[in-house]
Amino acid sequence: MSDFASKAKVLRDGQKPEFPSNANTLEYAQSLDAQDKLRHFRDEFIIPTRASLKKKALDGIIPGAQTNGTITDADTPCIYFVGNSLGAQPKAVRRFLEAQLETWASIGVNGHFSSLSNSPLTSWQDMAADCAAKSAAIVGAADPSEVVIMNTLTVNLHFMLASFYRPTDKRHKIILEWRPFPSDWYAFQSQIEWHGLNPEKSMVEMQPDENLYLSTEKILATIDEHAEDAALLLLPGIQYYTGQLFDIPRITKYAQERGIVVGWDLAHCAGNVELQLHDWNVDFAVWCTYKYLNGGPGSMAGAFVHERHGKVDMSSGKPVFKPRLSGWYGADKSVRFNMDKEFQPTPGAQGFQVSNPSAIDLTSLAAALSVFNKTSMKDLRSKALVLTAYTEHLLDEIVRRQPEGEEPAFKIITPRDPLQRGTQLSLLLRDGLMDTVAAALEAHGVVCDKRKPNVIRVAPVPMYCRFEDVWKFIEIFEAAIRG
Ligand SMILES: Cc1ncc(COP(=O)(O)O)c(C=O)c1O
Repeated sequence: MSDFASKAKVLRDGQKPEFPSNANTLEYAQSLDAQDKLRHFRDEFIIPTRASLKKKALDGIIPGAQTNGTITDADTPCIYFVGNSLGAQPKAVRRFLEAQLETWASIGVNGHFSSLSNSPLTSWQDMAADCAAKSAAIVGAADPSEVVIMNTLTVNLHFMLASFYRPTDKRHKIILEWRPFPSDWYAFQSQIEWHGLNPEKSMVEMQPDENLYLSTEKILATIDEHAEDAALLLLPGIQYYTGQLFDIPRITKYAQERGIVVGWDLAHCAGNVELQLHDWNVDFAVWCTYKYLNGGPGSMAGAFVHERHGKVDMSSGKPVFKPRLSGWYGADKSVRFNMDKEFQPTPGAQGFQVSNPSAIDLTSLAAALSVFNKTSMKDLRSKALVLTAYTEHLLDEIVRRQPEGEEPAFKIITPRDPLQRGTQLSLLLRDGLMDTVAAALEAHGVVCDKRKPNVIRVAPVPMYCRFEDVWKFIEIFEAAIRG
């Protein structure tokens, strides 16, 4: 078994792999890249270059496509460790968009129901379902009908809450975590108020320990405490700030056994970690597609509705289904264009669709998902486990090299257990370091995410990042913290 494969295996078992004494050499990083069977996927992406990042005006040059044939330092791809915020552009996006623009220009309105034979696209009517089919394995749906691609994440959260958060006098609380993404917080707050309730009485915030870790035990204890009055538990699969991955199946089962509906915000999980939403019996989930899924800025979002909630019973002659906020695109295709007044939803998650979706937006997402469909989440996760463990190892080496007695320049606040995190590592910097570190990273072409006052989030995503990038990042980062 190769060094790479044996490390992936150890990590999959939740253990820490051993790295050799030469792990901090460029040669070692390159040897891991050489063993990486997903390394060719990098060619499917456009990585901004050090020059392109400084661009101030359009010049028709796509980063990485040299104009004069010589590769200069400026053409060097940057270290793009920000796939947890906005994924890099898949080359397929341009191709798919060009096909879409030609389709629209050539056949106009007929594109709703026809597609051109050599196009990578379906008719516009079928594009959302096509993207759902391309997403099903990524989130572990039993069938594409459990997935709908529509709107954006927060909008989908509101639509799902409209169906799944049905507070009563007795059960009205939402269990959430200490630091939900602000948009989720606003959604919970406004939904509670929409029902005429008081957010202060209907929100249960779980606090982490002093290391910002929220243990499963604490979550289960909170569920027990609110077993009689909680209507819903909604957590992020991965906490955006610390990078902690929660035990989705265990928490879901425990809460459901106590009569609580369970939803997940998978913004930081989709395309990052393996998910089995159907088998885990999750009631519903929402995610965005611009981070790990690389669909483009503000690209259309996804929602999962477990098949048991998507049933449409026609036995009485009238459709009976889970209440929702409806629109004509949730109506079954067989009756959608009858333009009558009775809403008969498409069975499954797609019956939660509301409007005619943007075919242009779906095109970009279809292109991004087509790259995912050339591999599997299992393989991507295996690589991510090794990439992140390697990053962690080299970061720990930096701390070990610091002079004795000196306060460590940073602390990794993401769980050390590889199975309790995704790709991202969050680094809490010593007070006063943020500005110099941020400036040095930028000057050396490292793109990563800064959360003021003191946290940088580093995500070497497996689709297009290399071990060599990690090695270079460490060199730049270490020089930055040394000043
Ligand atoms: C965890 C989480 N939830 C919600 C959102 C909001 O997403 P949107 O603006 O697509 O609604 C984000 C955006 O980054 C996020 O990270």
